[in-house]
Amino acid sequence: MSTRSATGDCVKVIAVVRPLIARELALGSSEALVIAEDSVATKSGHQFTYDGVSRGSEDELAVTYDVHVKEIVGGVLQGYNGSVMAYGQTGSGKTHTMGMGGDNAGAGMARRVFDTIFASIADCEAMTTVKVCTSFIEIYKDEIRDLLLDSEDPEATAMATAVTIRENPKEGGVYLNGARIVQVNDVQDCLSVLEEGILRRATAESTMNVRSSRSHAILTINVETKVGDAKATLAKLHLVDLAGSERVTLNESRGQRFKEGVQINMGLLALSNCISALTDANRREWGHVPYRDSKLTRLLQDSLGGNSRTVMFACVSPADTNADETLNTLKYANRARSIRNRVAVNFEKSTEAELKLKRQLDAATERIAQLEMLVNVLHEENKALKQATPESHAFSQVNMTPDVGSTPRTPMHTPVLGNTPMSELLESCRKARQRAVILLSTNSPAKSPLTTPRGSIDLGGW
Ligand SMILES: Nc1ncnc2c1ncn2[C@@H]1O[C@H](COP(=O)(O)OP(=O)(O)OP(=O)(O)O)[C@@H](O)[C@H]1O
Ligand SMILES: [Mg+2]
Repeated sequence: MSTRSATGDCVKVIAVVRPLIARELALGSSEALVIAEDSVATKSGHQFTYDGVSRGSEDELAVTYDVHVKEIVGGVLQGYNGSVMAYGQTGSGKTHTMGMGGDNAGAGMARRVFDTIFASIADCEAMTTVKVCTSFIEIYKDEIRDLLLDSEDPEATAMATAVTIRENPKEGGVYLNGARIVQVNDVQDCLSVLEEGILRRATAESTMNVRSSRSHAILTINVETKVGDAKATLAKLHLVDLAGSERVTLNESRGQRFKEGVQINMGLLALSNCISALTDANRREWGHVPYRDSKLTRLLQDSLGGNSRTVMFACVSPADTNADETLNTLKYANRARSIRNRVAVNFEKSTEAELKLKRQLDAATERIAQLEMLVNVLHEENKALKQATPESHAFSQVNMTPDVGSTPRTPMHTPVLGNTPMSELLESCRKARQRAVILLSTNSPAKSPLTTPRGSIDLGGW
């Protein structure tokens, strides 16, 4: 098992090679993969390197989680989006690894993710408030269904069908509009949400899997963290359990299963095309990734090539009877490793009223800074006057010489001071004003005359 840590913005890929299962043993299958610390080799001579390789036991998955996933999950409290997804052929162990159904429901990655989030909240410094909300949907035959609404209830059904995908960079990228959102306060709440969704998720027995997922399931955890009066960070964490690719003939599917299989394969083909586009140097330069070809790829737009720290479990069967599908998964998983995401912290967005207040605050702060500089200038001038005329007590002994026919000048312009040498006085004032002008020109973008409560003072004349 690899111990390379999860840092950087590239998608992390962990290969999970589960043991042979009863069905495969019954078929007389044997293992056709050679597993090393961070690579998997097929008997047909292909070898692929990953960020980690696991045999899928609880102990190994626990280490994999600690090394590669935990940091991504903890990052949601700092405003980083995260995605943990499982990809692979039907029956390869995706749902088992994610803990999002079957015999491993409420365990696997999902349980560890919930534990990490609430342990991190408990460790937060004082003055921190964290709000955690969840939504849980499935994409069944390219339609979004809300797994947190009762499909027997007509009102809820109407609401469920109203779930749409929206995209707005200012709202944090791609998001679900209209899905039921449930606030969760502890791990138990999360497990209840998961359980509720799992019960409604489309599953059916197929030749390859007793409890085959017939839909892609996405559990989203939204986390809003606020420390004191600072701006809140907002992050979303997707837990994605994809439906498995299947060879329709191998699966011997009929009727409904066949139609589902075709739709599942189409969604996964769209996903493969996006992975190809994101990892193909030429196409990446052109900038077109066909996210819009399916609802699945639209929803995973942030997870693959967008603003998310992502770890993908590439689940494979070791059986020689699945060699072709396994090779396909291993190839795509290996390509996915070079997908570069653009990770950034998400902050809460300000409303118009908040923006207006902020602009007023900025203007007032700038005005205060200017007035403070003016006070300093006057203070220095006063000091200079005192030094020049120690016996004259500065302004108290200034004799004003009124201009004939005009308003009296201020002491700064035409002071006549007892027996103080005028040249000395002017020189010290000039220096003080020069310093103020330099200060203003470097600190104040407005470069406007200083404004005092009594009017404007033009410093340009000195
Ligand atoms: N790591 C593992 N250790 C032991 N058994 C496993 C492991 N992973 C999966 N299995 C078993 O393999 C079978 C198929 O697993 P799972 O349902 O998770 O496959 P899947 O990839 O989700 O398939 P589908 O795409 O059809 O939903 C299950 O019976 C499961 O218990
Ligand atoms: Mg499954």
